[in-house]
Amino acid sequence: MDVLANTTHFHIFTWVVGIIIFIVAAGLDSRSKGRKIAHMIARLFYVLILLSGFMLFMKYSGGDAALYGVKFLLGLLTIGMMEMVLVRSAKEKSVKVVWILFFVFLLATLFLGFKLPVGIAWFA
Ligand code: HEM
Repeated sequence: MDVLANTTHFHIFTWVVGIIIFIVAAGLDSRSKGRKIAHMIARLFYVLILLSGFMLFMKYSGGDAALYGVKFLLGLLTIGMMEMVLVRSAKEKSVKVVWILFFVFLLATLFLGFKLPVGIAWFA
């Protein structure tokens, strides 16, 4: 499995696809069958994001444990907001605040990810 954590490519693939499927799911009618299927695929990608992130974490977090810990937490919160948007909209509850939090956590996660040294380090 080391091959998946030697670069950040697998992790980037999982969160790019995961976020696209999440946005597609959120755009579908909350009672439709397509939405349920898209939500299931999104959940599969949450697991892949976590798995790929965790593998990178195990391999590289020794470099700066605190900052890698924050990256882990922000990634988890982003996924948490994605799930909350889909579950709350399916129950027809308001999702405005959760969408805002999703974007805030997503931006913070992207910024820190691109700041940390492995792979792309635009803000290092
Ligand atoms: C939707 C959620 C997530 C997004 C958008 C995201 C985004 C990113 C980005 C942009 C990078 C930098 C890639 C690069 O520099 O080439 C990255 C790296 C990383 N991510 Fe995530 N991530 C997410 C979830 C997670 C989770 C849940 C974990 C932990 C389990 C995690 C752990 C890591 C680690 C350890 C790195 C390597 C940091 C480094 O560049 O040194 N990520 N992530």
